[in-house]
Amino acid sequence: MINAASRAYLRATTQAVSNSLKPTVLATSQKKPVVVDAALNKDAPLATIVAKTGLQTVSQVRCAHTDLHVPDFSPYRRDAAKRLDRKDDSAESRKAFTYMIVGSGAVGAAYGAKALVTQFISSMSASADVLALAKIEVKLADIPEGKSVTFKWRGKPLFIRHRTASEISAERGVSLGELRDPQSDDQRVQRPEWLVVIGVCTHLGCVPIANAGDFGGYYCPCHGSHYDASGRIRKGPAPLNLEVPAHVFPEDNLLVVG
Ligand code: FES
Repeated sequence: MINAASRAYLRATTQAVSNSLKPTVLATSQKKPVVVDAALNKDAPLATIVAKTGLQTVSQVRCAHTDLHVPDFSPYRRDAAKRLDRKDDSAESRKAFTYMIVGSGAVGAAYGAKALVTQFISSMSASADVLALAKIEVKLADIPEGKSVTFKWRGKPLFIRHRTASEISAERGVSLGELRDPQSDDQRVQRPEWLVVIGVCTHLGCVPIANAGDFGGYYCPCHGSHYDASGRIRKGPAPLNLEVPAHVFPEDNLLVVG
């Protein structure tokens, strides 16, 4: 450290103020020496520093704040970072921990996104009570031969008819040329003794009556449509045969519709 003021003391005077205010201090004398820290200013041209003062010389005195304190973060710094003479080689070892945190966060985010999307899509599918009504199982042993039983399926009447041998032979003998909606009996039944049709008249949607009409099948009293024992329209205003829904016979005495 070089005491530059050991050769010259700085004498500062106030500058003339251009307004009407009077300076509170007319003149001041700098008694303290000018101190230059050589350790911090190694390149400073100390040899050329000259401090001048006098009545003809204008000097400025600039005061820096000395009441501001730089925060001390030492308690939060790693020991390795506190030592300026030591290279911080802990970064490599901390990479694994950083990757683990980032990786586990990404996995958690992906899992949450998947759960969210799954929940959103499943909310658009049919509810459990609707799915339960999608299929109906019927025990065929409960339906005697020659009888037609009505079930409710998906909000519509479902006719299941246990046909007799004479009905089967009569329906198989019908010529397609005499039908309004030509369909052979084989096309409408999977097993000859069982006829499965939706009980909605194809005219305007009334529910026909079983074992009635001119052809012994179904009769719609609304406007007089006659269906045979294969559910085919034979007479009246209805344009089409009764609809046959998708159905299977998983067992001998079990029918599943839907
Ligand atoms: Fe069945 Fe008209 S609704 S005949």
